[in-house]
Parts: sequence; structure tokens; C-alpha cells
Amino acid sequence: MDQAQGLRNVVKAQNVINTKEARIITITSGKGGVGKSNCAVNLALQFRKMGKRVIILDADFGLANVEVLCGTVPKYNLSDYIFGESELEEIITAGPEGIGFISGGSGIVKLNNLNSDQLNGVIYGLSKLNQLCDVLLIDTGAGVSETVMSFVLSSPEVIVVTTPEPSSITDAYSLIKAVYKSDGARRGTLPTLFILANRIVASDEGAAVYEKLNSVVGKFLGGSLSYLGDIPSDALLETAVRNQQIVSLVSPAAKSSRAFYEVANRLLGNDSGGQKSLGLFGFFNSFIKKQGDIR
Ligand SMILES: Nc1ncnc2c1ncn2[C@@H]1O[C@H](COP(=O)(O)OP(=O)(O)O)[C@@H](O)[C@H]1O
Ligand SMILES: [Mg+2]
Repeated sequence: MDQAQGLRNVVKAQNVINTKEARIITITSGKGGVGKSNCAVNLALQFRKMGKRVIILDADFGLANVEVLCGTVPKYNLSDYIFGESELEEIITAGPEGIGFISGGSGIVKLNNLNSDQLNGVIYGLSKLNQLCDVLLIDTGAGVSETVMSFVLSSPEVIVVTTPEPSSITDAYSLIKAVYKSDGARRGTLPTLFILANRIVASDEGAAVYEKLNSVVGKFLGGSLSYLGDIPSDALLETAVRNQQIVSLVSPAAKSSRAFYEVANRLLGNDSGGQKSLGLFGFFNSFIKKQGDIR
């Protein structure tokens, strides 16, 4: 029995892991500015409307994405919890409609500097998020940095956001290629990769973006992608962003809000998880190992 399994048994014995594991969905992109954070907050809101408890982990370090979008100011961040200054409940800020937010701070980057006992404590603690949410949405930075890739490769489900711009599609492909070239791919454990086409103008544009990506992924990587749908380019979304509001909340009938509803609905009906979900305990354990081998 390895150390992780041992700890997993302790966690189970203490009933910290509920029978129902939280869904873990990472939202990422090859290129920046394509709409990841907007997808995170709007999907969170749609999930709330469907009665789910949602927490967003803002993992785009250095940029206060989610808090600016929602006008909520978290008092603490992940670092405060990891370094023992705050309780888990304290680092979760309640946002609009009861969406929970955790600001990443620089906590995850600093995890590399902890010893394995400290790390196990952190992983054990974070797995308690299971009791506090049904869905954990992770809003990452763009590109293939080590941290972004660790989130992507630890998640059972990943949403890759792209616009129809050629540079955005090319960068999405680079990210997907990095996933397929990873160790996980060799072991046969890949996340389900969803394509979400954002800022669509013509109605068939989103499907065309997906077809383009899926065909190169099939041809050069021998893989396949799932299509999650498209979000139209919407002036009401931009207005909401300027007012630090969530379009799905302030303009539920806007075309982007309706599209976010469709996407959220599709995700809930499609509890696929390409790699078998190990739950939050398994997720953080895997994430930290990928950041730097802890054994
Ligand atoms: N569907 C959309 N329609 C119109 N503008 C959008 C849409 N999605 C994103 N934007 C614009 O793009 C900007 C960047 O979005 P954001 O979600 O912050 O991207 P990322 O998190 O990928 O960097 C937003 O501030 C908004 O003005
Ligand atoms: Mg962002």
C-alpha cells in the first residue's frame, strides 16, 4: 500500500469523503483573453440555478480574474489556508447567488516547497471541499505552463475554450497536443477534452471550429474531442463585464446567457469523466505529484 492509498483509507474511515464526489471541471485555453473566466462564472451561475453547489478556484495566478468579474473581494486566498493562517471555510468567499470563490493567490506554486507531511495535510484538507460543493470549476491561465498542465492532467474533465480566430485555434491545438504527449496519455488516462467555441458570430462557426480541431487531433494525435457547444459574441456580456456583473444573472434572456444554460445542461447530462474520477482527494494528490514528485 503506498502512502497515498494509506491516507485515502484514513480519509474514508473518517467519512470525510462523501459517497457523492464533487465534479471537477477545469477550464483552460491555449491563448489568453478568449473567455475562460467568463465561462467559469456563467457556468457556475447556471449550475446554481440548477440547484448545484458550486465553487470556483481561480487558478490564474497573479490576475484577479474571477473576483473582478463578480465584484467580490476575497479576504483570504489559498496560501492563507495552506500555510495555516485560515480555515478552509474562511478562504471561500460567497459571491452572487451563493457561488463560492477561492482565490488561488500564489499558494499552489508554493506547494512545491512543502515537505510530504505538510502536503498530505493540505491534500486531506482540500478534499473536504467535497462536503461544500457539487461542482468545482477551476479557472486556469492560458497556455502550457507546468501549473496549467498539472490542473489539466489531474482533471477528469477539461473545457478548452477557443474563439474562431486562427491563432486561438492553433494555440488550442498546441495545448491539446501537450495533453496527448503527456505521461497520462501513455498510461491511457486522459481527461475528457471538451471544446467550447466562444465569441461565435455565424451559427455554424462553432461546429466548424470543433470539426477543424477534432480532425487534426484525429489525424496527428490519434485522439478525439467532445463538442460542448458555442457561445455567441454578445454585447450584453461585454456590458455585464464592464459593470462587474454576470450576464447570466443580470440578463438571463441574453443570447450568451441562453447558450451558457445549454452548455451547463449538457455538462450535467454528460457525467462522463474520461479518466475515472478519483474525487477531490485524488485530484489534489495527482495535481501535486505532477507539480513536483512528492514521493
Ligand atoms: N461571448 C462573448 N461576447 C463578447 N465578448 C466576450 C465574450 N467572451 C469574452 N468576451 C470579452 O473578452 C474579454 C476576456 O474574457 P475573459 O473571460 O476574461 O478571458 P480569459 O479568462 O480567457 O482571459 C471579456 O472581458 C469580454 O469583454
Ligand atoms: Mg481569465
